[in-house]
Amino acid sequence: MENIQSHLNDLKNQLNEYAYHYYVLDESLISDAEYDRLYQELLELERKHPEWITPDSPTQRIGDQLIEGFEKVKHAETMYSLANAFNRADLTRFIDRIEAMVGQGVTFVCECKIDGLAIAVTYQEGQLIRGATRGNGSIGEDITQNLRTIPSIPLKLRQPVTGEFRGEAYMPKAVFMKLNQQREETAQPPLANPRNAAAGALRQINPRKAAERELNVFMYGAAQTEGVQMDSQVELFEAFEKMGLRTNPLRQECQNLDEIWEFIEQVGQQRHDLPYEIDGVVIKVNQFAQQDLLGYTVKAPRWAIAYKFPAEMAQTRILSIDWSVGRTGVVTPTAVMEPVKLAGTTVQRASLHNVDLIRQLDVRLGDLVSIHKAGDIIPEVTQVLKDQRSTTSQPLMFPETCPICSQELVQLEGEVAIRCVNPNCPAQRLAQISHFVSRNAMNITGLGEKVVQQLIDIKLIETAADLYYLSVDDLLKIDHFKEKSAKKLYLAIQSSKGNSLERLLFGLGIRHVGVKAARLIAQKFGTIDAVMGAGPDQIEQIDGVGPMISRSLSSYFQQDDSRKMVERLKEAGLNLTYMGVSEERQDVNSDWLDQTIVLTGSLSHFTRDQAKQMLEGLGAKVTGSVSKKTDVLIYGDSPGSKLDKAQNLGITTMDELTFVSKLEESGVILDEREN
Ligand code: IVH
Repeated sequence: MENIQSHLNDLKNQLNEYAYHYYVLDESLISDAEYDRLYQELLELERKHPEWITPDSPTQRIGDQLIEGFEKVKHAETMYSLANAFNRADLTRFIDRIEAMVGQGVTFVCECKIDGLAIAVTYQEGQLIRGATRGNGSIGEDITQNLRTIPSIPLKLRQPVTGEFRGEAYMPKAVFMKLNQQREETAQPPLANPRNAAAGALRQINPRKAAERELNVFMYGAAQTEGVQMDSQVELFEAFEKMGLRTNPLRQECQNLDEIWEFIEQVGQQRHDLPYEIDGVVIKVNQFAQQDLLGYTVKAPRWAIAYKFPAEMAQTRILSIDWSVGRTGVVTPTAVMEPVKLAGTTVQRASLHNVDLIRQLDVRLGDLVSIHKAGDIIPEVTQVLKDQRSTTSQPLMFPETCPICSQELVQLEGEVAIRCVNPNCPAQRLAQISHFVSRNAMNITGLGEKVVQQLIDIKLIETAADLYYLSVDDLLKIDHFKEKSAKKLYLAIQSSKGNSLERLLFGLGIRHVGVKAARLIAQKFGTIDAVMGAGPDQIEQIDGVGPMISRSLSSYFQQDDSRKMVERLKEAGLNLTYMGVSEERQDVNSDWLDQTIVLTGSLSHFTRDQAKQMLEGLGAKVTGSVSKKTDVLIYGDSPGSKLDKAQNLGITTMDELTFVSKLEESGVILDEREN
């Protein structure tokens, strides 16, 4: 018996050692196959002897329990943010002030400013006991279960150290690109940037989903440590490496501004080739004794500063405008430009969002424009160089008819978007069907946009309901489809018939009805017939469903086409009842439930009212003034005193862009900015 137990421990230590080399030191000691073999052996032993399973076993990284809610955690010491520097002069002032306070001969450590999310992990005698987000700096959220899924965070340190260690969790660029590609294939809106994607991953309530996001960390700070001696930032990094915490090797000790600047320039040149996103360089006083002398302002240490890279810009020429039609008929303009290098990639397309933006910018064909990348990734036109414009140039003509079906376009009152309102427009059909089959809707795998397009082109389907009438023989007509792939898709379609009602309600693509509202409505009414029979007043009585949603829902079901669609689905044998909460769906955006939110400043994506209704639709309460009861303050431009007050009270604040990305990420709003 003892022999088996010590073998089990050996296996565990061996596997942890290999993982340390692989994930922390970026070197592999054994082949993947060999690692897997040992891992399976450990799994098998643990299955036979569950009493010997310890939390630091590599098999215990991914929990199988859903997280009920993220508890609040008080940090051992405040997690400060950093003051910013934008040029060499700002850095000169930073250094002068330090030298005035502690004297000459200060040395610095320069590190990359990783564009991720600050985290704090606590170890007790070497055992990982907790992981948390930064939150408002003094109180964060307990995300231990999700952080445990990150393989470079040791479950057990290589030394029995106690303390809180800090760093940045991030999503590698390659993972981010892969994730967005997958989202595109399943007709989900893309995530705005790796930072938002990482934030979303860490707030998943299903650790398995968090693990799929393949996050990584770089550690760079500590608080209240015991059992390890560190007197400077240089020593901290050395100690971290001995303990097994992953650090970023791209760092340098610098004696003066020239050396700091040289590092900044060197990193600036490399940054687009790095596998992770950085947005600047952090410069820290090296000696901790000097750091203590310098102390902190309310927000940030006086011993550190973040140099931010200037937003990269490029100039290029507008060649043409592409008009594309989305699911709800909104026609969106995209600028097609002469290809130009920008922030590491060649850019030739940029969304212009809507006709109002075109009017505001006064973009014209042939114009020279400035572009930048929002979140370092999404190209946007920021300015038209009007003085370079030819005298014969003409304002851009907006299409009057749909570029796909030629029906006349309309601009509805109060909207900036122009729409094709032809329900039979093929472009809308494509987008609608793609939405219908997407992951948070009917979740039919194997039906990417290209396949849907083909099925429409060969006239096998017109609406999503037609999918359920396809035979294996029909599916064999799709390019490159063989018996096996056709059968597989057929089965995927058929098995989606059993989905619970909320998936269908969301999949119908009714304006403003997001995942959450669909669930609340399905839960309340139970069957599609009951939903269709309900008037807006009844629907609005549901806690969390506002008038915008209820009006949209009942007007949808008043249309003949919608009713016909439901009839066809019914005839095909779809389940049209609510079947209770399923685990699959739970991880979709529980973020806003029961949160008290305050909106302030001017929002650019929605009116205040629309944002309010949307939040209410997600189960949040929106109030007018900031108090201790407020959970989150969302702010737009010129936020004023509410933002100050919220910050003083330590309330979480969120800018509009983050808010929008959160909504997009959870599938609440789609990529068309309709208003
Ligand atoms: S030090 C008191 N080092 O930048 C020192 N921060 O704008 C606080 N960040 O909240 C942080 N890379 O999330 C530090 N090498 C680095 C960093 C870094 C990224 C983030 C961190 C912090 C934010 C401040």
